[in-house]
Amino acid sequence: MRVGILGSGLMGGKLGTLFARAGHEVVFSYARSRKKLEGLARDAGGNARAGTPGEAAREADAVLLAVHWSRMDDVLKQAGDLPGKVIVTCSLPLNAANTELVIAHTLSGAEELAKTLPKARVVSAFHTVPSEVLFGVYEARRKASRPSLVYCGEDKKAKAVASELIRGVGFDPVDAGPLQIARYTEPFALLVAQLAYEGTGGPELAYRFERFRSRGSENRIVVKV
Ligand SMILES: NC(=O)c1ccc[n+]([C@@H]2O[C@H](COP(=O)([O-])OP(=O)(O)OC[C@H]3O[C@@H](n4cnc5c(N)ncnc54)[C@H](OP(=O)(O)O)[C@@H]3O)[C@@H](O)[C@H]2O)c1
Repeated sequence: MRVGILGSGLMGGKLGTLFARAGHEVVFSYARSRKKLEGLARDAGGNARAGTPGEAAREADAVLLAVHWSRMDDVLKQAGDLPGKVIVTCSLPLNAANTELVIAHTLSGAEELAKTLPKARVVSAFHTVPSEVLFGVYEARRKASRPSLVYCGEDKKAKAVASELIRGVGFDPVDAGPLQIARYTEPFALLVAQLAYEGTGGPELAYRFERFRSRGSENRIVVKV
């Protein structure tokens, strides 16, 4: 599929590279230098090129939104009309210092984005893992046991697109339900970031949900990090 990257930093740069390696056609956009976008496209191989946000969005089957929350209005303005587009957002509604969610509990960043883009089909995904783990997960994609990756959204077809992207870069997609569930997944992303960046094991961290059933007891979900 054709994937437009809006925000080609740690997340967008790496995910765009992996989407291209997984066989998708990628347009990198929205960095402070065109040279950076061209370098990313070159390193990602034949399936990628650099473009403007408008070019990245125009022909895309899916758009990855990977900017700091404070850049959201600007990037959306540059991207232009997005009616009907599948928007996969990994952007978290964080303050300038990246220490706190500025939207939480009764609303999520993903829902706020969907309100801003009422005609787009928003899926929240990729925000629950640090960028540092992405290449490692991709390299391990042929192993029997893959890390989980939660995603949520309203539109069934948009979620199928997101699920294909998630699977293509080596995760096991976990459909967490409607977009409202981003109220849970966004704070969960901060927990993963806390373990990745403040823990002792390094930031190359992913998680895996497993079910452990025993006779006569209820099902339990266990999170392995
Ligand atoms: N990093 C993670 O591990 C991680 C994990 C989960 C979720 N997230 C979320 O994902 C989103 C993206 O995070 P990130 O770490 O990838 O951010 P980032 O590395 O700062 O990337 C943001 C991109 O936006 C571009 N940008 C910023 N200001 C700009 C401007 N004025 N004009 C044009 N381009 C501009 C940056 O350009 P330059 O390339 O020139 O800097 C960069 O390409 C955030 O909402 C974050 O909370 C991040």
